[in-house]
Amino acid sequence: MMKKNKIFVACDSPNISKVKEIIKKTSHPKIKFGYKFGLEFLNSKNGRSFVSKIKNKIIFADLKIHDIPNTCVSTIKAIKDLKVNYLTIHISSGLEALKASKKVAGRTKIIGVSILTSLNGQALKEIGFNKEVKKLVLHQAQLANKAKLDAIVCSAQEVSVVKKIFKKEIITPGIRLSDNTNDQKRVLTPNQAYKNGSDWLVIGRPITKGNIKKNIQKLVNHLCK
Ligand code: C5P
Repeated sequence: MMKKNKIFVACDSPNISKVKEIIKKTSHPKIKFGYKFGLEFLNSKNGRSFVSKIKNKIIFADLKIHDIPNTCVSTIKAIKDLKVNYLTIHISSGLEALKASKKVAGRTKIIGVSILTSLNGQALKEIGFNKEVKKLVLHQAQLANKAKLDAIVCSAQEVSVVKKIFKKEIITPGIRLSDNTNDQKRVLTPNQAYKNGSDWLVIGRPITKGNIKKNIQKLVNHLCK
């Protein structure tokens, strides 16, 4: 393990005590941690105000905005007081929405979400997308590029393809150390993801379920292999 590995921990719980525990127990000299808060926590009773008070951490609001340009812009303005470092919008919101979002984001980096890592070829067909996953992700990466977004979310399986046309940060969820993939379909291990060129990994359940300290140690052992 050469440089410090960068990992966003998905703080996926509506429960503040659990989220506090996750933040407290995820420190390690070999890893640079950021914290990702999704719809589950930001919509919980006290989640938003909790995030607004966090200091000196890299914060990622996984809002996954998917809407018309006007609503995207208003949403980004409405979350400005949180001063988050990163915020997500679905690339499928369209070029106009992406450009408008980037324009009002200020210092918050806008991440374009491509095809969800929980979808495989079969699931994509079900929702009417006929292109193969890699081609679709590549197509969306081109759009993210055109809109001058700061980062892109894709699966680690597509990083090498995306890297050819998208030169900024690449963030990859769907990271697994074991065969338990839960609901994720396009998965890779942390080492494979970094090898392919991911800048940040997003890891939730493999860290937060069970004993967090032991999970981190397992992860570090894997990274040191
Ligand atoms: O628990 P797990 O490691 O699967 O968590 C992955 C996290 O990344 C979840 O919070 C999920 O919402 C998020 N995510 C994802 N796939 C995307 C975008 C975000 O899994 N394409």
